Amino acid sequence: MELRTPRLRLIPLDPDRDASGLHAAFGDPEVMRWWNHVVCADVAETRERLRESVDRDGAHLWVIRRGEACEPAGMVGLLGEVDVPGLTWLLCKDAWGRGLATEAAGAVVEHALGPLDLPRVEAWVEATNERSLAVARRVGLTERGRLAQRYPHRERPHEMVVLGRARDHEPTPMLNAEVALPVRDVAATLTLLREALGGRTLFSVGDPPEVAGVSFGPWSVGPRLQLVSTRRWRIARVTLYLDVGVELEALHDRAVDAGADVVQRPTEQPWGMRECVVQLPEGHHIVLTAPA
Ligand SMILES: CC(C)(COP(=O)(O)OP(=O)(O)OC[C@H]1O[C@@H](n2cnc3c(N)ncnc32)[C@H](O)[C@@H]1OP(=O)(O)O)[C@@H](O)C(=O)NCCC(=O)NCCS
Repeated sequence: MELRTPRLRLIPLDPDRDASGLHAAFGDPEVMRWWNHVVCADVAETRERLRESVDRDGAHLWVIRRGEACEPAGMVGLLGEVDVPGLTWLLCKDAWGRGLATEAAGAVVEHALGPLDLPRVEAWVEATNERSLAVARRVGLTERGRLAQRYPHRERPHEMVVLGRARDHEPTPMLNAEVALPVRDVAATLTLLREALGGRTLFSVGDPPEVAGVSFGPWSVGPRLQLVSTRRWRIARVTLYLDVGVELEALHDRAVDAGADVVQRPTEQPWGMRECVVQLPEGHHIVLTAPA
């Protein structure tokens, strides 16, 4: 279905018709700097990429046209085959800086939460893609969390901001999950976690401490765990996964320098992650995990 805004027509994308116009964006390294694949070499490759996107279940993609102009200004829409409906947008370079992406994305968000009756939409935007973050915020999306991702063509993972907007006001159903880790010496474990993994003591009860909270980020929210003192002889081993984002190697080096018992160096796993394992004196495993 075609959508209209004061300055734009959003026309359901047809790869055969639109590939040559959109190649101005898909063939431009500056536009593709943020995309999940490399610059398309020619119109045929752009067509193929567009075809893959359009064919995904649940995808709704539109080509953006300014009034009656023949050449597309860009593309906007909803990605297919994603867990939560995901927004996508891109403009040819000569269309940047005129508010067109915001106008187009705003229309898609209203269409998604209105006629398409979707309960929520989200956008995954690279943390350094300021222009795209601004578009997301201008159309009413707010930050919901962050994750690390690695595109196949890039050497290193990068940080993604997940921004979302819900149709109805909905309190977040669950804000965090926290493990209580039984340890023999809470104070010593606090020191180890601080020196090896940058953990920060949130609270500590008792002298010597019987219970303590540890946070692994600089802010008031983020990954955290509790340490609970136990005198039991046998302690069941807990395996705790810490998603460390893009700094796995640096954190591994820090743990080694701090004298932590690193029982597995950063190793690529068959499930697409790089993982490194630090063992605590009780045998608990802290698995540091990041995209391979
Ligand atoms: C992301 C992208 C679409 C944003 O384009 P953009 O032009 O910055 O965004 P908008 O079209 O909403 O334009 C906003 C700018 O137009 C200006 N503007 C000019 N005339 C305007 C008008 N009539 N109405 C509203 N804004 C106007 C705004 O002030 C703003 O300027 P600023 O950047 O100096 O603050 C573009 O940078 C792009 O294609 N990037 C590469 C692909 C990409 O990263 N896609 C997203 C992946 S998550």
